[in-house]
Amino acid sequence: MSTTLTRYMYVCCLLLILFSIGCRQEKAPKYRIGFSQCTGNDDWRRNMLVEMKRQLFYHPEMQLLYKDAEDDSKRQISQIQQLLAEKIDILLVSPNEAQPLAPVIAEVYRRGIPVIILDRKAATDSFTAYIGGDNYNIGKLAAKYIAGQLGGKGRIIEVTGLPGSSPTIERHQGFRDELVQYPGLQITASLEGNWVPGKTREAAIRQEATIRQADVVFAQNDVMAYSLFRYCEEKGISHLKFIGVDASPTSDGGIDLVSRGILSASLLYPGGGKEAINMAADILAGKKAPRYTRLQTVLIDSSNVKLMRLQIDKIQEQHQEIEGQQSVLQEQRRLYQDQQHLLRIVATILGVAFLLGIVLFFILRTNRRINRQLKQQRDEILQQRDQLVEMTAKAQEATEAKFAFFTNLSHEFRTPLTLIQAPLESLLDDRQFSSIQKQQLDLMHRNVVRLMRLVNQLLEFRRIESGKLPLKVSEHELPAFITDIMEAFKGVAVKKHIDFRLISRQPGIKAWFDQHLFDRVLYNLLSNAFRFTTDYGKVHIYLEKPENSQETTIRIEDDGAGMDKTTLAHAFELFYQNRGSEHKGTGIGLALTREIIALHHGTIRVQSSKDTGTTFTITLPCSSDPFTPEEICQEAESVHIINHAIQGYVEEPKHIIPVTPTSSPAKEHKYSLLIIEDHPDLNSFLAGHLGGQYEVFHAGNGAEGLQLAFQHIPDLILCDIMLPGMNGIQVLETLKKDIRTSHIPVILLSANNSEEQRIKGMQHNADAYISKPFNLAYLGESIASTLNNRALLKTHYIAEPETRMHTSRSNKPDRKFVNDFTAVVAENLGNDQLSVEDICQHLSISRVQLYRKVKQLLDCNVNDYILDARVKKARYLLLNSSLPVAEIAYACGFSSPAYFSTVFKARSQQTPKSFREQVNKRTDG
Ligand code: FRU
Repeated sequence: MSTTLTRYMYVCCLLLILFSIGCRQEKAPKYRIGFSQCTGNDDWRRNMLVEMKRQLFYHPEMQLLYKDAEDDSKRQISQIQQLLAEKIDILLVSPNEAQPLAPVIAEVYRRGIPVIILDRKAATDSFTAYIGGDNYNIGKLAAKYIAGQLGGKGRIIEVTGLPGSSPTIERHQGFRDELVQYPGLQITASLEGNWVPGKTREAAIRQEATIRQADVVFAQNDVMAYSLFRYCEEKGISHLKFIGVDASPTSDGGIDLVSRGILSASLLYPGGGKEAINMAADILAGKKAPRYTRLQTVLIDSSNVKLMRLQIDKIQEQHQEIEGQQSVLQEQRRLYQDQQHLLRIVATILGVAFLLGIVLFFILRTNRRINRQLKQQRDEILQQRDQLVEMTAKAQEATEAKFAFFTNLSHEFRTPLTLIQAPLESLLDDRQFSSIQKQQLDLMHRNVVRLMRLVNQLLEFRRIESGKLPLKVSEHELPAFITDIMEAFKGVAVKKHIDFRLISRQPGIKAWFDQHLFDRVLYNLLSNAFRFTTDYGKVHIYLEKPENSQETTIRIEDDGAGMDKTTLAHAFELFYQNRGSEHKGTGIGLALTREIIALHHGTIRVQSSKDTGTTFTITLPCSSDPFTPEEICQEAESVHIINHAIQGYVEEPKHIIPVTPTSSPAKEHKYSLLIIEDHPDLNSFLAGHLGGQYEVFHAGNGAEGLQLAFQHIPDLILCDIMLPGMNGIQVLETLKKDIRTSHIPVILLSANNSEEQRIKGMQHNADAYISKPFNLAYLGESIASTLNNRALLKTHYIAEPETRMHTSRSNKPDRKFVNDFTAVVAENLGNDQLSVEDICQHLSISRVQLYRKVKQLLDCNVNDYILDARVKKARYLLLNSSLPVAEIAYACGFSSPAYFSTVFKARSQQTPKSFREQVNKRTDG
């Protein structure tokens, strides 16, 4: 939820920032006005710029780009080009000189940019408008004023501006033209002042004598007039009158000089800054502008200077007021913009807050729903947990009860087992028993010991698990301890020719352990190794203590049957048994082993692969550190004595020797039996028990059993279901599918007494199912009755050949065999060369198998069956055909009529001929 909200917040803040940035930017001016000024170095032009700026306040859509050429025409040209590059929308220009500036102005105009020329003119027609004072008239007014002052007679000094600039030319022209009216007035000298004081002074120095004799000075601007006045003042020339042009309202400007009496008069020359801005705005707004705008002039002298000044002061005041108001307005505008900006921000914030509110509302609603679901789920989980806890407690209780039951039962078993074992041992010592009886007693003893071991292991496991088995460790030399235990297995190793040895590169390796417990570990692992290692295999024990290690390693390696992956994964699990695996044990030994090692703070690992072998690796601590003081026993027992109780670990090799070979080998038995049972003692016992009545073959696993079945074709097979490798059901299936063995009745034996197992057995055509432990008499009767039933069946086959195929007791392969066999014989009745070999070839079985199968299913000899069939056909031909006897003999496969006659007589007690006559007589009668 918080991530979504944060994401929304980020988006909103971003919007806000973007919006406020957008608001902050004030409106950019729409137009750029380029203003190229010939010079900005005098009050008149400064005043012009002030006028322009003041007027621009009313036109915020326009921006002024100002360039000062400092009286340099070349610089002015390049500055105009710069303005062009800066993409101006209109050009205001006051050219320094008329000629040099003309081309660049024409170029700007040609590019479609409006051009307004101010004050000085350019020598081109390519411009939009001109604004300036009437210079020609100024010249004339000046001449008129001088004439009036001097009474039409006197000498005049003229000071001119820059020669190439239009005001210079026009003012001079107006002045001259007017003077023509006054012949008594003469221009005695003309000084080139170039509009500036310095040049004026230089020219005055050159014309000082003429100046001294003159009466009046007409300077084309006030600046040059004042410069000459000061020069004359310096030189003590005080009679001269000075007239200037401009009448600027600044200090030392024309009006100031007239009021101070320095100048007699000054002609007002307006700058036109205000008019220029207004006109530019009109042009840019698309309005039509007049091409020439003449600004009016007026002469200011002592008679009107005061009024003028007052007016100017008033105007100045008004300007200041306007400027003040403008700045207030500016401030207000800024304030307004700020407020507008603020308003937008507030509006945005409100908008964002509103959006966030909506988002928050939905998020909260979703949250509430999720919380509700979570609560519901939590309640369900809690309920399930409680149920689980309850079930676990019950399961725990049940397990405990089960273990307690096992433990109690195991305790209960020990007394009766001891009471069986002890008398058995004393009976074994008794010499009055026959060797067969001794063997049986020995078998009983071995199994009692084994049972006792299982019971003891179970009890020990329970004691360790419940922490009731106190550990008493001390330091022992492992090689001596292991060698001692190995002694017990030496006999088996020799019998099975197993390479059995201890391999240790370091002498006297020690470890801390409880020898009375730890011996179970070694007995268990070694007994396993011997159980699964075949003759001529190896069982090696490696003992190692790596340098600087706190542990000792014992490795027991065998090259026996090994475990499959499933068995390996569950190797240490209590009561785990993998059906079908050869590694089938009680499920206690390895679990107990692991518990004992864990009690010693050691570890056990197993590596194994099928048919390659198994390696168990144990580690034991080399110091007493891991043990509590109570677990440490200071005085170690020096010699280890093999515990009598664990002698049962050492099992003799599984050579199956029948316990009671009651039958003499020469005696012929009517029936033969095959026993397939992996438990050697039971196998041997059954063989011994049944050997008196039947010829017995026996196998320890399914594969061996099948091999013997095909080899001997026994009359009945007894097969255990739980067999290593191929199980009993698979063996049964194979037997019943194979024509050679399909007729053999099979009785299944199993420790699993479940209905399911019985049904499965019967589905695969088992003839009987007997659960372990079984009653021997019942087993004997079952075998006998199965064999008797078979015998009856044979009789049935022989008596009613036509119904053979439909008997419910016969299985499919048997019916097929009978069909195939009779068909081969029937087809070859006319063939006197038909041999047993031919029939075997047709049926793809061996001679022995044919004889046995025909005997089993039809209870007769193969050759007898063929002769019977021939005779039967001959009888039919004798009755139903008129063929001579000799021909019938050949048609029925007899090599000669004489042989036919002999055989026929032997089976029908009369010759073929008399048989025919007798039957014919009966029909005739
Ligand atoms: C200022 C000025 C004025 C004069 C005008 C003529 O630069 O010299 O005094 O009237 O230029 O262009």
